[in-house]
Amino acid sequence: MNKNRSLKTEMLFRLVIPLIFFVIIDAVLSYFVTLHYVDEAYDRWLLDSARSLTQEIKLREGKVFVELPAAALEIFKWDEQDKTYFKITSSEQEILAGDKLVPEPLDPETDWSHPVYFNDKLYDEPVRVVSMLIALDTTSERIFVHVAETMNKRRAMMTDILLADMIPQLILILLTSIFLLTGLKKGLKPLHLLADKIAQRSSRDLSPIPESHVFLEVRTLTDTINELLEAHTQAIATQQRFIANAAHQLRTPLAGLKLQAERALREQDLSGMKPALQQIQNSADRMSHLTTQLLVLARSEPISGGYELLPVDLCKLVRQTCMDWVPKALQRNMEIGFESPEKELFVQGDEILLRELLTNLLDNAIAYGFDNGNILVKLQRYPVPRLTVEDDGPGIPDTELDKVFERFYRIAGSPGNGCGLGLSIVKEIADLHKARFELSKSGIRGGTRIDLVFEDA
Ligand SMILES: Nc1ncnc2c1ncn2[C@@H]1O[C@H](COP(=O)(O)OP(=O)(O)OP(=O)(O)O)[C@@H](O)[C@H]1O
Ligand SMILES: [Mg+2]
Repeated sequence: MNKNRSLKTEMLFRLVIPLIFFVIIDAVLSYFVTLHYVDEAYDRWLLDSARSLTQEIKLREGKVFVELPAAALEIFKWDEQDKTYFKITSSEQEILAGDKLVPEPLDPETDWSHPVYFNDKLYDEPVRVVSMLIALDTTSERIFVHVAETMNKRRAMMTDILLADMIPQLILILLTSIFLLTGLKKGLKPLHLLADKIAQRSSRDLSPIPESHVFLEVRTLTDTINELLEAHTQAIATQQRFIANAAHQLRTPLAGLKLQAERALREQDLSGMKPALQQIQNSADRMSHLTTQLLVLARSEPISGGYELLPVDLCKLVRQTCMDWVPKALQRNMEIGFESPEKELFVQGDEILLRELLTNLLDNAIAYGFDNGNILVKLQRYPVPRLTVEDDGPGIPDTELDKVFERFYRIAGSPGNGCGLGLSIVKEIADLHKARFELSKSGIRGGTRIDLVFEDA
């Protein structure tokens, strides 16, 4: 389909072209049927003329001759539209009467048991000819009668019948096209009004398109657009809430930084400055952590879209990340164990984001677990690839299970410099990998267990 063709033209083409095609087929069929019946009717008359001539063939003293009175010739003159010619020939005497130029069947195989009809030319005019054999009992001489008639009557009748057949059909096509065009123009008006309304909207206006009296198909389209607008409105609201939260979260350590710097500047000696400097370092740490988390979150947002899922070896990735976190775990005398029955386990993923996911899970397990605790990271291939991180810490209370995934949500009294983004980052990255995310109680002394199931891998 031509992309730029309007619906009006498209409908017109799809309806009128087949109609014209059918009318042409009908015209061709009508032509042959009409020709058959017109020939049949006029051939009967032609045969009557030939038979009337046979009456005038006489036999006297064994010799065949033709006697044509004026009355007999009269029948060949009465018609004003067509000229009629005849010829009577004999197998022994050649031409007995008539015009010798009248055509006759030349095929020696001609079957003379019944009259023979054919089309030919005489005096440069097309003619229809009937030829018949007359058998006379008393002689072996074979007599042939040929009558030819020009075809004006036949042509006129054919034209009349065909026009009577075609003209109503052509008028029907014309009327259908006009009706279709005006109908479509009227029918499409609400659509144009709708397009105008949408065109006049400001780019910030995400309110739903008002219901108008358009067709069901267009209603489906506007409903879909409205759903999209609604989803967009929600996404923007979430984004704005997030930006407001992020700004608030950044403002607090920044204010702290400024305050501590002022305090440090007021001190005269280095030992007096130390507590303030220590707090400056804490605030800077918090800010650096928050900025990193915000950037990871921005990257894992489906809106940012700059990721490409490629085969990633989870075994290698998990082993390396666990090793990176060992020193931090050792600070709290914790142990990180890694279990994997496989040497390599490939899933479709984004390596950097998957590393961030595990980093956040390990960070939580170390930050919220007990001293001297155990962290177990497990990989399974069957039935589908699964990554499990569990600890033997205090676990997440059941009442908090839903809330911990909210952005900036921290359980009251949680230790450390966290900003409440870790689990929402994990969730976002899991969604992006179409992986199922399960949070449950660990079998090891009721700690936290998080499972990531790569169902699409
Ligand atoms: N393994 C865990 N054991 C016990 N509590 C946990 C565990 N993981 C998360 N939590 C609780 O869930 C809350 C949300 O965790 P999340 O990782 O989203 O934020 P955060 O750790 O406070 O901050 P961030 O990870 O952004 O530094 C935490 O405040 C913590 O109380
Ligand atoms: Mg965390």
